[in-house]
Amino acid sequence: MPSISAVLKPLLGTLAGIVGIYAAFVCLLTIPTLQDHVIFLHKVTLTWFQDVNVPEQWGFLRNQVTPFHLKTPDGQTLHAWHVLPLETYRKNQKELREEPTGLCEDIEDRLSFKLLKEDPTAQLVIYFHGAAGTLGSGWRPQSYRALSATSTNVHILAIDYRGFGTSTGWPSEAGLLTDGLTLVKFALDEAGIPPERIVVFAQSIGTAVAIAVTHHYALQSPPVLFAGTVLVAPFADVAQLARTYKVAGTVPLLSPVAFFPKLLALLNRFIRTKFPSKEKLADMIRHLDSAKTGERRRKYDITLIHAEDDYDIPWIHSDVLFWHAVNATLEPSASLTFDDLEKIKAKQKTPLGAGGWEMEWEGKGGVVREQIVKHGLHDRIMSYPVVSLAVSQAFHSQDEARD
Ligand SMILES: *[C@@H]1O[C@H](CO)[C@@H](O)[C@H](O)[C@H]1NC(C)=O
Repeated sequence: MPSISAVLKPLLGTLAGIVGIYAAFVCLLTIPTLQDHVIFLHKVTLTWFQDVNVPEQWGFLRNQVTPFHLKTPDGQTLHAWHVLPLETYRKNQKELREEPTGLCEDIEDRLSFKLLKEDPTAQLVIYFHGAAGTLGSGWRPQSYRALSATSTNVHILAIDYRGFGTSTGWPSEAGLLTDGLTLVKFALDEAGIPPERIVVFAQSIGTAVAIAVTHHYALQSPPVLFAGTVLVAPFADVAQLARTYKVAGTVPLLSPVAFFPKLLALLNRFIRTKFPSKEKLADMIRHLDSAKTGERRRKYDITLIHAEDDYDIPWIHSDVLFWHAVNATLEPSASLTFDDLEKIKAKQKTPLGAGGWEMEWEGKGGVVREQIVKHGLHDRIMSYPVVSLAVSQAFHSQDEARD
């Protein structure tokens, strides 16, 4: 029957073509440089033809944002933004307007920096953005505004990691951690903000940086604890992310390969970026919980927030992270399975109807909570009140501990 084969042949040909292209793509993923492009998407700047030293383009007031450079210990130059709280801006509007705009040569000369450094009530969000884009792309400007345009005194320091935007270098797991630590060190040492007035905030791939940074400081002796760490749309680790990630919420990356576990395991061996967030989170909690009560002056406060309609990183990742965190608060003999915790959550979580639900778990040395909202997608959730509230609750977490 010539007619059927005439139809089938091109169809099969197309199918073989698609499978072939996908197989070639998966093989290409074993090349480190290409992996970096897929994981960090740092060349997808999204703010094409826009100068990230002109924050007015994203709706900010004149000198509400001060762009500046930070040097890392390994010789990279990071592009950073300091966003002023709206109230602080109002009180100093006249002087701020008179200052020069654009990339600032010496941040320490600027009024904005003095308003952070010299105000003992200033609170600071250290902001680690997600993959792709720059400081000004996507929902990030809206997110800075949602955090800083409140009645409280919240400043924001955000960076473009190495290889992103106008920062120098090429991204890597270790490099992003160095960048994160450089920003925190600047906040602690140059701006002189104590950790209890700092909340580490991150979204998407930034959550891996935030967890690594928080872990690094928690393991100091004595531990350095921030007011809180707020993680939006986090992921458990790169191996699980690769299995579930969809580019732009639609194109599955490796989920077709995941049907062949051996092949996926093989491929994961080639992926050099690991970001073992679930292990780091658990390790940090175990470490802090085991400190003697007398030595424990402050508490860890970790919030995981995820939207059910996040099509880029599914919210099961927050379930997995929360499980590892809760398990780390238990005695080693009382190991908890994922399903055990799901049963406990079914009984103990606080249902919020169309707002989703939340669940809080207290360890000996602090609190970890999971908040799942029904709506918010992957990015726009950053600008939602659930996130602003979590950040402001984190700022207050230490007062409550002191009461
Ligand atoms: C849970 O904690 C125990 C001991 O603290 C550990 O041996 C086990 O591997 C942990 N489970 C997971 C899934 O991490």
